[in-house]
Amino acid sequence: MPPDPDDLRRLGDLLSTRRFGRAHEHHETLSSTNDRAAAWARSGAPHGAVVTADAQTAGRGRRGRSWHSASRENLYASVIVRARAGGPGLGALGLAAAVGLCEGMPDVGVVLKWPNDLLVGGRKIGGILCEARWSGGVAEAVVGFGINVGTRSFPGPLAAIATSLASCMDAPLGRAELLARLLGGLEDAMEAFLHHGFAAVRERYVARCSMLGTTVALENGPGKRVEVLAEGLDPDGALRVRPPGGGPSWRVESSDVWLVEPPDPGRLTNGDTGLA
Ligand code: BTN
Repeated sequence: MPPDPDDLRRLGDLLSTRRFGRAHEHHETLSSTNDRAAAWARSGAPHGAVVTADAQTAGRGRRGRSWHSASRENLYASVIVRARAGGPGLGALGLAAAVGLCEGMPDVGVVLKWPNDLLVGGRKIGGILCEARWSGGVAEAVVGFGINVGTRSFPGPLAAIATSLASCMDAPLGRAELLARLLGGLEDAMEAFLHHGFAAVRERYVARCSMLGTTVALENGPGKRVEVLAEGLDPDGALRVRPPGGGPSWRVESSDVWLVEPPDPGRLTNGDTGLA
């Protein structure tokens, strides 16, 4: 019988990475691959270790949202990233991850929506949830990502805003082959980011971010919605916006890294500034 292209236990045979995915745990069902990866990280998993699941019972997204995690249809994965002491801050980790995943995706016209959504034709095909804690002065991060692969009909309000590879390719890749490609892209972007900071991947991000130069709606708290021109990215990955009619520009900071034990609370931004 030919190998099952969806069988994530075959990942090791398909990898071209140095470290990402070389340690791999696959589960049929988990509450969340991010939770299992965080526990594995605490018990010493190496940099680049990956947790996957066929289904999640409590898959979560940014800003407390749940993540549609139907069984065996899509990719649910979390990678453990260990930042070296004295390296760049992790504020733009999610943006760097978005670059890597976008570059690893098949050629279906994937673009980025700041800070780290992957879109095709204006609909969301993937999302990233980064969570980190500090252990002995070194950041231990989990980069979790969900990519919609096989779901053709999404429930409820997702029907209008989500898409999948099956909806945009005649013959979508199997999940194992897709994950091997994504880990290749992710390792490349992460190594650049961890050694040289966001500046090392900023141009790659900008080239793929379709919303720069356009007017977007910004939610600045409950019921506070403003239209702004997304002008560009600051060197640290913050979005620089300006009122469409002119006036001073301001920064919108990504809040997709939550630090459980922050070393310096003054440097953290945990405001809810999601773009609608
Ligand atoms: C978002 O766009 O809001 C982020 C979605 C991240 C979903 C993935 S699925 C694998 C990993 N485990 C989780 O519980 N969440 C991430």
